[in-house]
Amino acid sequence: MHNLPQIPSSEITPKDLFLSRRKFLRGLGLGAGALALAACGLPGSEATPTSAPAQPAATSGGSAPSASANTDELGDPLTEYDAVTGFNNYYEFTTDKERVARMAADFPTSPWQVQVGGLVNNPGVFDIDDLLKFPIAERIYRLRCVEAWSMVIPWMGFQLSELLKKVEPTSQAKYVRFESIYDPDKMPGQHSSWYEWPYVEGLRLDEAMHPLTLMATGLYGEQLPAQNGAPLRLVVPWKYGFKSIKAIVKIDLVEEQPTSLWMAAAPREYGFYANVNPDVSHPRWSQRTERRIGELGRRETLPFNGYAEQVASLYEGMDLRSNY
Ligand code: MTE
Repeated sequence: MHNLPQIPSSEITPKDLFLSRRKFLRGLGLGAGALALAACGLPGSEATPTSAPAQPAATSGGSAPSASANTDELGDPLTEYDAVTGFNNYYEFTTDKERVARMAADFPTSPWQVQVGGLVNNPGVFDIDDLLKFPIAERIYRLRCVEAWSMVIPWMGFQLSELLKKVEPTSQAKYVRFESIYDPDKMPGQHSSWYEWPYVEGLRLDEAMHPLTLMATGLYGEQLPAQNGAPLRLVVPWKYGFKSIKAIVKIDLVEEQPTSLWMAAAPREYGFYANVNPDVSHPRWSQRTERRIGELGRRETLPFNGYAEQVASLYEGMDLRSNY
């Protein structure tokens, strides 16, 4: 676990990342002292997607990507397909959002198995084809990155609760721990020793069972592109995007709160809950507003990313400042 505060950022930031950030900050007239380890980079450091991804996304049949509606339930337009699939966070490949699609293009996402176990009565190894037999539905969700940019994405997927019911968590199970694939030969970012690979995330069991919590297998009516976490990724729309772990190979029901990759890397910056909360700033930037990809200007960030009505009751009586 890294202990951040007193360590010069040059020592705690992956070297290549540090060098490119230093260049970026120099351009802004900021010194390297302003740097620190960042989940998903610095707010505002992300380039706006301007062109189609270098590599077309996986398609299921050559038809144009489509969704059942043009907006989310708040009336906000879907983010363009090219931005959703051409502007990604996937540190296993690269920290350069616009290069992820190209670098992930040949990543094999089939065959794929997911091991589900821990404190359950029916552990099992599930082939992705078995998982695709759960009822798959479209869910149009806002994705709000902790860096303060956001998108509206029409995902396809099944409720995580379906899978959890099948494996039957025991009464001891309190949390769900998710693990991404570890394959440094194919994922060059995993050669960086600054992170404790594989990528790990976790949810409380009631969060995992919530009907909004999705295991995504597609988007825009198509098979999930590799850069978006194919063949299986989590989507928890009321939490910052880093909770939505990609390329899942292992799910364990556990008694203790899991430590995520980001909690281990920067515990003062990234907590376990990571609920979208405009009232709690990231230590290095405000979370009050966000930039919706494809829009000019900024918009207000909504508590729980606009899903408060559905999920606020999960946190009744909890201090959401200390449980950030
Ligand atoms: N999952 C893995 N395995 N590795 C990652 O680097 N990045 C997270 C999350 N899931 C990440 C991950 C972050 S910071 C965000 S914002 C979202 O994925 C981005 O999802 P997208 O690229 O589909 O928009």
